[in-house]
Amino acid sequence: MIIGRGKRWVGVLMSLQAFGLPSLAVAAVEAKRVNFGTLQDGARVEAAELSNSAGMSVRIIALGAAIQSLDVPDRGGVREDVVLGYDSPREYVAKPQYFGATVGRFANRIARGKFALDGREYTLETNDGPNHLHGGVQGLDKVLWNIDEVRSGPLGRIVLRHVSPDGAGGYPGTLTVTATYSLSERNELAVEYSARTDKPTIVNITNHAYFNLAGKGDVLGHRLKLYADSYTPVDATLIPTGERRSVAGTPFDFRQPRAIGELIRDGHDEQLRFGRGYDHNFVLSGEPSPQGMRLAAWLEDPASGRVLEVFASAPGLQFYSGNFLDGTVVGKGGRIYRQGDALCLEPQLFPDAPNHADFPSARVDPGREYVNRMVFRFSVSRP
Ligand code: BGC
Repeated sequence: MIIGRGKRWVGVLMSLQAFGLPSLAVAAVEAKRVNFGTLQDGARVEAAELSNSAGMSVRIIALGAAIQSLDVPDRGGVREDVVLGYDSPREYVAKPQYFGATVGRFANRIARGKFALDGREYTLETNDGPNHLHGGVQGLDKVLWNIDEVRSGPLGRIVLRHVSPDGAGGYPGTLTVTATYSLSERNELAVEYSARTDKPTIVNITNHAYFNLAGKGDVLGHRLKLYADSYTPVDATLIPTGERRSVAGTPFDFRQPRAIGELIRDGHDEQLRFGRGYDHNFVLSGEPSPQGMRLAAWLEDPASGRVLEVFASAPGLQFYSGNFLDGTVVGKGGRIYRQGDALCLEPQLFPDAPNHADFPSARVDPGREYVNRMVFRFSVSRP
């Protein structure tokens, strides 16, 4: 059955009721178009915002279909911007941190930029030591998307589209990508990526928001729970070895909430040394709802009480603890971003999937739709 995108989204958010959440309220989420400055060549960067009556608002910019700001109330109702980013478009082009961006065509790493499809070898740009990372030098994060739709309603919605030409970054096939951001009255920000191709290709698209639920300082005191019994260890260049290793008895065991900083400096663990902290793909183990969504992560800032739950349709979750933020980056409001100042929770396929036959496949054929859905649900905890 073919259903409209709006209906499908209601389906995803409704699926959260399977987790015991009450149904959607009726008040409307307001949507509006805004401008976000210009690029070096004078091109205007359009943007759009969604705000609900519960005090949450999000701004999406056409450059990289990125989340530029995300205001969320704490347990006292005080709003804070909980994502890292820049104040102007030019910084997004100049700096490679992927703040809030839509990353792809293949998010994460592909070993030496090489993969084969139907017996033919393809070579992608190598932009991370010997490997390919986040779609190459001109990935989906660096292009201007078209904002197709900005709509108010019980689910406010922003729909962006980009057509990535055949051969971009070395990838086969013209890829038409849609990014849909929806905000509910229940403080759920839903993100859906979908894509169609005209040739067999590989696709892995996710959102690269850097969260800091305090809106300042670092995230080492945030408590994290991951719904994952195993993870995929990596080599020194952060390419998976192919093993799925149990998290039991390791610093990767987040099956019960634990402060991110508790074991992050455990130098006995080679994996933490390779990643300079956490920079690993977790194999999600929760049972998906009938709509294919499952709880992937729970994150709390104990001081403000802000809680983020991540629901995902993807099989993997990259947990990256902001290890490569080195204090040279000055973000929104003139704030210096240092190591551990934010973390990313990126629902996606496993890294280097095209080179591991037993990882979930990244292949997409003409006539088939690639879809990756995630929901970031905010609430507050009581002390
Ligand atoms: C990767 C990190 C990388 C970062 C770039 C993350 O998704 O896992 O290794 O440094 O993106 O911002």
